[in-house]
Amino acid sequence: MPEILPVTKDNWRALTKLKVREDQRNFVATNTYSIAEAQFGDDVEGEGHWDMFPYGIYDGDTPVGFLMIAYNYNAPRFQGYILRLMVDEKFQGKGFGKFAMNWTLEKYRADDRVKMVAISYEPENEAARQLYASLGFVETGEIVDEEALAVLSL
Ligand SMILES: CC(C)(COP(=O)(O)OP(=O)(O)OC[C@H]1O[C@@H](n2cnc3c(N)ncnc32)[C@H](O)[C@@H]1OP(=O)(O)O)[C@@H](O)C(=O)NCCC(=O)NCCS
Repeated sequence: MPEILPVTKDNWRALTKLKVREDQRNFVATNTYSIAEAQFGDDVEGEGHWDMFPYGIYDGDTPVGFLMIAYNYNAPRFQGYILRLMVDEKFQGKGFGKFAMNWTLEKYRADDRVKMVAISYEPENEAARQLYASLGFVETGEIVDEEALAVLSL
């Protein structure tokens, strides 16, 4: 079984070495950028502050991917946001992405304060669209920062 572990002083360097394929580079920020962003979270007008939590996806001791999820219990539309998901090019297509998504949704479902979860992706990212649609995410038709927004009611 894969495992999802928080980013710490001990594992962050290894997680920054994970890479997606060349043709996928514009689908996701680097893990280094995401780990930096997570130190501060973000304030969104009309929503308030989003706290961000970065994780490594592991196959045993081997880091295979990266996940970053966000919470804002006061946000009016969705209180959870799956900000980043990537699986290293060497480990794609083996179920790690789906495992990480299911782990995340289980975590959000266990929290009564999270009623809706959102995710966004480049419109041409078919793998991402199919993965999220298979879990019940529905596109709203909105484009946020050039990405299609999809939501899931828990
Ligand atoms: C998208 C991504 C996270 C999926 O992770 P993964 O471990 O490769 O995917 P999984 O093996 O868990 O597959 C899960 C589902 O994704 C979809 N999928 C994965 N690869 C796919 C491909 N090449 N084409 C179409 N659908 C694909 C399928 O729906 C698949 O379900 P299935 O196996 O039941 O058909 C991974 O491909 C990735 O890191 N891509 C580059 C970065 C990125 O796009 N991140 C998402 C940003 S929003």
